[in-house]
Parts: sequence; C-alpha cells; structure tokens
Amino acid sequence: SIHENSESASHYVACEIAELIRSRQKEGKNVVLGLATGSTPTKLYDYLVRFHKEEGLSFKNVITFNLDEYYPMEPDSIHSYVRFMKEHLFDHIDIPAKNIHIPDGTLEKEDVRAFCLDYEKKIQQAGGLDIQILGIGRTGHIGFNEPGSSLGSITRMVRLDRVTRLDAASDFFGLDNVPTKAITMGVGTILSAKRIIMMAWGEGKSDIIHKAVEGKQRESIPATFLQNHPNCEVITDRPAASAL
Ligand code: GLP
Repeated sequence: SIHENSESASHYVACEIAELIRSRQKEGKNVVLGLATGSTPTKLYDYLVRFHKEEGLSFKNVITFNLDEYYPMEPDSIHSYVRFMKEHLFDHIDIPAKNIHIPDGTLEKEDVRAFCLDYEKKIQQAGGLDIQILGIGRTGHIGFNEPGSSLGSITRMVRLDRVTRLDAASDFFGLDNVPTKAITMGVGTILSAKRIIMMAWGEGKSDIIHKAVEGKQRESIPATFLQNHPNCEVITDRPAASAL
C-alpha cells in the first residue's frame, strides 16, 4: 500500500504489530518478530517506543530475531546492528534480554556455520516468525541477501555487494572501513515468516521497488522472491512508489 509519507506508513505498521502483541497477550502467548535495521524502520521503532511509554504496551511476550549483522563486528561498535537495535528500540522497552536474538559478529570463522544453524533452530523453536519487517537495499537485497542468493537460502555468512558497501561507506567514514562480509537470515528464512511487511521510502528506492514488485523473479534481485509469499505487504511513501 502507498501512504502519504513514511510517518503515516510507519504508524500503520506499528499499529499492526501492537495489535498482534496485545491479542497474543490475552491468550498468554508469545509473538515472534523478525526485525530489520537501516534508516527505513527507525520511525516504526519510534512509534513502538511511544506505544510502550504512553499506552503501556508491554513487550514481555515478544521474541525478536534480527535479520543480519556485519562480520566481523563488535556489539558495542557504533556500526553494529546490536547497538543500533538497543538505541532505537530495545533500551526503551521492557523486552527481556533473553528474548533478543541478533547474529553474532564476534564469532570465530569456524563457529559461524554452527551458529547459523542454531539461529534457524531457535526461530523454529520459538514458533516461527509471526511478522518479518524488511527494508530493501539498492541491489534488491533483503537482509543481506545480495544478488545471487537463492530462494531456499538460510542463515549464513555472505559477501557484501560493492553497491551495498558504497551505500554504507559514509556511515563508516570510508569504503575501506565497511566490512566485506555479513551474517544474514536467508531468503528461505524470510519467506518462512507468516507475514512479511517490506517498507521503502524516498525516490531513491523507486527503481528497485518497481523491479521487486513488478519484475520477473530472479536471483539477481532477491527481493523479487517475495512475490512467492502469500502474505507479503509492500508499504511505501509516494516517492518510493513513483515508478510503479
Ligand atoms: C542494509 C540492511 C538492510 C536494509 C538496507 C537498506 O543493507 N542490512 O536490512 O534494508 O540496508 O537500508 P536503508 O533502510 O537505510 O535504506
């Protein structure tokens, strides 16, 4: 759906999440959320924090799995997605620390494989992802599933595309400082979610949104695989929808 602006779009998504959390609370059940980083979901997290502070929305029954993390990456680095999530969401709500899962950028190389398999297992043991939140990269990546990622891919270590690293370069004060690798949930992991909400704002995303939504499904644009999902919503502001 196309919204007037990212503010109202983010409010809509926050309300959908809050509603699910409240209805599960009544049943005494958990909610499992797949979360994203980047500039796109920040307003969504602002709203969730506001709902917590102003309306008493509790996150005690919420379990989260983040999509990805750079590799290598220390959790307290200003570039880490652990730190990002704390600053934008986790430090401001009442989610139990044990319910938070983010790929570990500090692992030894030889331990990554086992960690990734365990990450998949934990998602399943939690009951599977109820809602997966997504942004989209200019390469058409979701999470860090760059061009070439297959439909069935699972959580694993990946090499980052040059375009993605260029887009991150200013945050890292130079391309050379951007990690060349990341750990990401796979396309298959994402598609296993019961509901997917992809968000995109701004004219800069219009071309890739057009390709993702209306283009042919192919590995060179992993976001096209979302077309397979029975319950995937693409939420944009007007500029991001301008090429549709
Ligand atoms: C990074 C993240 C993605 C995100 C993308 C877009 O690569 N790993 O999850 O969707 O950037 O970033 P932004 O939301 O800042 O446009």
